[in-house]
Amino acid sequence: VKTIGVLTSGGDAPGMNATVRSVVRTGLHMGMRVLGIRHGYNGLISGDMVEMNLRSVSDIIHRGGTILYTARCPEFREQAGLEKAKKTCQAAGLDGIVVIGGDGSFRGARDLSLLGIPCVGLPGTIDNDIASSDYTIGFDTAMNTAMQMVDRLRDTTQSHDRCSVVEVMGRHAGYIALNTGIACGATSILVPEVPFDFKRDIYDRMMNTRKTGKQHFIIVVAEGVVAENNPSIDELAKRIQTETGIETRATVLGHVQRGGSPTVEDRVNASLMGNYAVELLNRGIGNRVVVMRDNKIVDIDIYEALQMKKTIDMHTYEVAHQISI
Ligand code: F6P
Repeated sequence: VKTIGVLTSGGDAPGMNATVRSVVRTGLHMGMRVLGIRHGYNGLISGDMVEMNLRSVSDIIHRGGTILYTARCPEFREQAGLEKAKKTCQAAGLDGIVVIGGDGSFRGARDLSLLGIPCVGLPGTIDNDIASSDYTIGFDTAMNTAMQMVDRLRDTTQSHDRCSVVEVMGRHAGYIALNTGIACGATSILVPEVPFDFKRDIYDRMMNTRKTGKQHFIIVVAEGVVAENNPSIDELAKRIQTETGIETRATVLGHVQRGGSPTVEDRVNASLMGNYAVELLNRGIGNRVVVMRDNKIVDIDIYEALQMKKTIDMHTYEVAHQISI
């Protein structure tokens, strides 16, 4: 009987539970033993594992977060940590592991595969910043949450003829910002991929729009922009207020974007990708990531996946600014 493990790693994302459920049920369906590894790679180092059965994953498909807990594990980046994990895997009789997380988690999966434990990575992060995949589990839910929050902000912003500067998540990537911005008709969308100029991208856009009769403004800013250029969201709001004379408020959406019940898209993709990963391990194939490319679920080599680069769609970016006027 084959034994596989499943773990969630890095920032949690809605749909991780649906993925774990699919991995566990597919594994059991194929006659495998399935172990849930807790707290990400930490659990692999310390041997914090639980045997999963059909009922261990009942009633979780609709829940955000991850029942397996998650962590970022610096120890796993060191050779000593890896060796410890390898020993734990051997002691537990693990024939393969499904790792749900981002690029950092895939690096761990690659290193462990090289040590002889076949690992398959599944893209789980709200940021959608995994170059090898057009889509990541949790992204759709996070965008919908951000959109709902900005819609609420719009009500109060419009009532007071104000400007709202909203920071959405995305450590190095503007995907959440871009899609939320277009969905909410933001006057300006700032993303880390495109350098911004205060006068051109904020001041002029607001002033030109105001001339056409508009009295309230939403500016969506990706977290990565704030981190890179260093004006805090509050400083940016103050500058807008001072230079435009329009009363401005700053809102950081923060971790609310990471929680909540996953959308249909995230639940379905999580279920299909989880199943695909176990199929690979059942055939003894490791060192792969399961990704979405051109609306198809496919698998690629982890090393290749980690070399890839992707960026936001500039056409979408242009269109957003053309029509949110
Ligand atoms: O990678 C997902 C993410 O939510 C980023 O958008 C954000 O920068 C980061 O995680 C926050 O991490 P933490 O929860 O460790 O503060």
